[in-house]
Amino acid sequence: MTYRTAIIGGTMRLAGSPGKAVGAEELATPFGRASHAAEYPGADTIFVNRHGAGGEFLAHRVNYRANMHFLKRCGVREALAVFAVGGIDRTLADGDFAIPHDLIDYTWGREHTFAPEEGVRHIEFGEPFDASVRARIRQAAGRAGIAVRDGGVYGVTQGPRLETPAEIDRMERDGCTLVGMTAMPEAALARELGIAYAGVCVVVNPAAGRGTGAIDGADIRGVIARSEEPLARLVAEFLEGGG
Ligand code: HPA
Repeated sequence: MTYRTAIIGGTMRLAGSPGKAVGAEELATPFGRASHAAEYPGADTIFVNRHGAGGEFLAHRVNYRANMHFLKRCGVREALAVFAVGGIDRTLADGDFAIPHDLIDYTWGREHTFAPEEGVRHIEFGEPFDASVRARIRQAAGRAGIAVRDGGVYGVTQGPRLETPAEIDRMERDGCTLVGMTAMPEAALARELGIAYAGVCVVVNPAAGRGTGAIDGADIRGVIARSEEPLARLVAEFLEGGG
């Protein structure tokens, strides 16, 4: 079972994506069990749902190390991660796509490194999202005719609760334009294992204090539902574009 590319999804559903699920025994790693994986039909690609097949692992409970170790064992060299996020930048609207170029990690208490195992010590992290994978996401979006915001700073919060308006104001002062719960430690673990990793964010709500009222779950589900089809086209173009 070897694959070149991984698609890591979660809250954002990828229409028509996963094929045959990988058996539970194969998901076992020295760091615990990977959340859920399935073959991606017709491509040298494996799909991981970080939240599990039924969404059972909330962001703070995802076994990020097991997921990334499983991908490494599959021979994966590059990963496209998909994130549902809140928009901090007021020029972002629900349903917008963005390719973050940097991040700030506000998470705590997560198993966040393989060091000193796996021969890992310090990693370079001046560019946390791989530039060539980012470029390929941008090109895939272009071919698919999907508008994307190129660049953004993803502030990664601990969850599972959403943020307060004051927290979002502080994150904005820090330079964050997007807020989500899953890019860390995923991005750092990918770097530790030498997997070229970048992602595409789908803005599913205005961040706390940025919209007209409380963040509404039904509204989010609506945005997710209408973003599913363009997202699946973007991913298909990304895979067709090759490495
Ligand atoms: N905050 C954190 N994570 C999120 C949000 C948010 O507003 N929307 C989707 N994921």
